[in-house]
Parts: sequence; structure tokens; C-alpha cells
Amino acid sequence: MDANQLRRLPKAELHLHIEGTLEPEMVFELARRNDVRLPYATVADLRRAHAFSDLPHFLDLYYACMAVLQTEDDFADLAAAYLRTAAAQGVRHVEVFFDPQAHTSRGIPIATVVQGLRRGLDSVRTEPAIHADLIACFLRDRPVAEAEQTLDDLAPFFDSVIGVGLDSAEVGFPPGQFASVFARAREAGLHVVAHAGEEGPPDYIWEALDVLGIERVDHGIRALESASLIERLSTDRIPLTACPLSNVRLRCVDTLGVHPLPAMLDAGLMVTINSDDPAYFGGYVGDVFVALRDELALPEEQLIALARNSFTASFISSEERALLLEQLAAHSSS
Ligand code: ADE
Ligand code: ZN
Repeated sequence: MDANQLRRLPKAELHLHIEGTLEPEMVFELARRNDVRLPYATVADLRRAHAFSDLPHFLDLYYACMAVLQTEDDFADLAAAYLRTAAAQGVRHVEVFFDPQAHTSRGIPIATVVQGLRRGLDSVRTEPAIHADLIACFLRDRPVAEAEQTLDDLAPFFDSVIGVGLDSAEVGFPPGQFASVFARAREAGLHVVAHAGEEGPPDYIWEALDVLGIERVDHGIRALESASLIERLSTDRIPLTACPLSNVRLRCVDTLGVHPLPAMLDAGLMVTINSDDPAYFGGYVGDVFVALRDELALPEEQLIALARNSFTASFISSEERALLLEQLAAHSSS
């Protein structure tokens, strides 16, 4: 497979923050449109700020850039731009994270966010088609009561949102505090996932599994520190949505060449490959596959198995899953 075939390998993206696809050029375009003053003079200046020491450092810039997202059209344009890029990255199905509280806390109505994103996702026709769902993430470094309110505010949009997640600064914010809001989400028939074990300890992954009842772990790389946790995750086939380029850019891992992905696979974990915040971390999901081959020397069979895992771990119907797995098999044997 050449690099472009590998980039276009059919796959599902299960860990993608739509606000993390806000490219610097779009930040400036929307700032002009909405008359928002930016603390950077040029796109190049903003790009230079993409040098992060850790997750909280990244989050400061990530939330600051969102100030340019003001209207339903802005959210629609953001989602449409992502889908156009995703088509060339082999994405056939995507479960798009968004952060309602990062917008409602700035006075943007939740309807503006959800309706804008949904309209943007529906407005783009790609060949082959991309199926896109939305997952709303609660910000774990904001009060639990705000997450409860956000779930209430999302209720009118439950036909547009398939699940809830938990993200933002991890260390010092254990998932267990969100037990009741996750229980309510599960009772409402929503899927539940959570970021855990990105910077935080293995205990946070246990808590997310046992207290929140999550179906997938987002990141989860620190699971490798606990043999009993590896046993639990592999026995129950709980997927981990790994984001290798993100881990390097946020300095959870020194370089891609020493990423623990091979150890995770050797330990029998069900891993998928994702981009997290591609506008900030140097690549969209197809680019991550290429980087894993070039810099981690991951063999082609393992890359294909990871693409297969992405469909298996997704929340699509079994009919759709079977179809997409067939497309992957056809592509990888061609
Ligand atoms: N929000 C956006 N990207 C994130 C990440 N990598 N971890 C936690 N919260 C996030
Ligand atoms: Zn993430």
C-alpha cells in the first residue's frame, strides 16, 4: 500500500473533537466575520502557539479559539469543513464529540450549537458517503450541576445526539463525581464514553467503567500500568480510542517511535486509532495511520486490524458495520 492508499483505508473515527478541527485559517476567517479580536496578528503566529507542554496548556488555547464560533452558520461551516477533509482520510463513519458547555458558558444557546453542527454534517455529500453522529461531552473541570443542566438542555435534541462523553482537564477531576448525570444519560438510551487514563491514573479508568458504566475508554494509555485493568479491558473487549499524535503533542509520550500502542496490542486490548484535535496535533486520522507506519514501523496487517477495530467499536447498526467491514476488506486486498 502506498501512503495515499493507507491514508484512505476505510475507517471510523471515534475520537474527534469538532472544536479541535478549527484550523488557524478558519479562526481568522470567523474572527473577521464576527468582529472578534484575536491575541495573534497572523495565522503563522497562531500556529507557533501550537507548542504545548501538557493537556491544560493545550486546553487554554483550544477554548480561547472557540470565541470565534458565534452563530449557527459558524458551527455548520466548521462541521462541513471537517467532513470535506475526512473524505480524503478514508473516514466512512464518525462519532463527533462536541463541548456544549464551552459555548453555553459564553452565552451561545445550545440549539445554535447542535442545529449548526447537524446542518453542517448533513450539508456535505462525499463519495463514498460518510455517516456522522454527534456525542456531547461534559467538561469535567466544571461543576457537576452544570453537566446535569446540560443534559436537561440537550433533551430536545436527543434525536440528533447519540451519546455523552467526559473531557477537558483530567488530573484532579475523577470521573466518579459524574455518576448521576451518566446514569440519567444511560436511562435516556444514550451511549456513554469518557476520557480516562490520558494524563490521569488507571484508577480513573476503573471509576469510569464501574461508576459511569462507560462503553468505551477515550485514550486509556495509562491502562498499561495496571495488570488487573488490562485483564478487565481485554476480557470485556472494552475499546480504547487511542490518539497517538495527540499523546506526543501533549507530551504524554516522548515521541511516536516510543508510543505504547504496540504494547497495548500485545496486551490484547481492543484499540482504535483517532486524531483527537487534528487542527492542533499535526494530522487527521488517515495521516495518523501513515505516521504509525513511518515512525512506529507498525506492519500493514496491524494497521488493517486497527481499521477493522474502528468499525467493530463504533455505535453503528450491525448492517452498516457489516457493509463497512466489507469495504475495508475490498480496499485492503486491492
Ligand atoms: N478536549 C479536547 N481535546 C481533549 C483531550 N485530548 N483531552 C481532554 N479533553 C479534550
Ligand atoms: Zn479527546
